[in-house]
Amino acid sequence: MSALKIDNVWKEYGDQIVLESVSIDIEDRAFVALVGPSGCGKTTFLRMLLGQERPTRGQILIDGAPLPPEPGPDRGVVFQRYSVFPHLTVLGNVLLGRELTRSPRLARLFGAERKAALEDAREMLAQVGLSRSEDKYPAQLSGGMQQRLALAQALLMKPKVLLLDEPFGALDPGIRADIHVLMKRLWHENPMTVVMVTHDMREAFTLASRVVAFERSRDRPEEKLRYGATITRDIPIWPPRRAGQASLIRPDRDGPAPKGL
Ligand SMILES: Nc1ncnc2c1ncn2[C@@H]1O[C@H](COP(=O)(O)OP(=O)(O)OP(=O)(O)O)[C@@H](O)[C@H]1O
Ligand SMILES: [Mg+2]
Repeated sequence: MSALKIDNVWKEYGDQIVLESVSIDIEDRAFVALVGPSGCGKTTFLRMLLGQERPTRGQILIDGAPLPPEPGPDRGVVFQRYSVFPHLTVLGNVLLGRELTRSPRLARLFGAERKAALEDAREMLAQVGLSRSEDKYPAQLSGGMQQRLALAQALLMKPKVLLLDEPFGALDPGIRADIHVLMKRLWHENPMTVVMVTHDMREAFTLASRVVAFERSRDRPEEKLRYGATITRDIPIWPPRRAGQASLIRPDRDGPAPKGL
């Protein structure tokens, strides 16, 4: 289970109200796409779900319990860039999370534990199509490969919630389409709830089971600090798209993005 309840959450930085009265229930295994203008607080919202930031008011519950105050292995994250460590190989990057949680001081595993971790890491790399690149360094990979590596790294920890902040924003359109197919398959095969920020409406409507828009109700320059953004639209995709449905991995079944959001 990995249901999220965001209950009347506010986030302020000093005098600036970034988000106000945000409430949303995200069901277990949903795929939520978060859209909204630049600067409206999408990354801030994701960082609160990750535990990097605390709400000023309100609360966030995961499966009915308050969200742990620190980021933990139950929440994975992939950013637009720089999610992977440049000095580690592909395999080393995927292994690192496991090494750090099992052996926080040495960040090394031995014997049967290392063997099991290697097996899991290689299986994950196969899932994202990077088996032949395990000895390469991130600088030797294309942008699409780096983002697939970041996904593998996050997924190896089997997060209950996967947070994606414009993960495919820097990729060119052809590679994006391929990674969308992959992303659907990963959501389909791994039991997790996904919250993804994107600027791309088509991406939102192609991938998500629900599209949520953040906006400021008042946007005059002199009001910018005093009013935050909140959820202004919450659109379920119809017919309902659920994790585990075989049709999810057939991109030809997805219609074009609705206009006018
Ligand atoms: N640590 C911080 N301290 C002070 N202000 C911050 C901090 N983090 C974010 N902000 C402010 O909060 C507002 C929202 O920022 P945020 O990065 O969440 O927007 P966003 O919706 O992700 O934008 P974009 O689409 O451009 O990525 C901005 O005005 C930003 O300056
Ligand atoms: Mg952002």
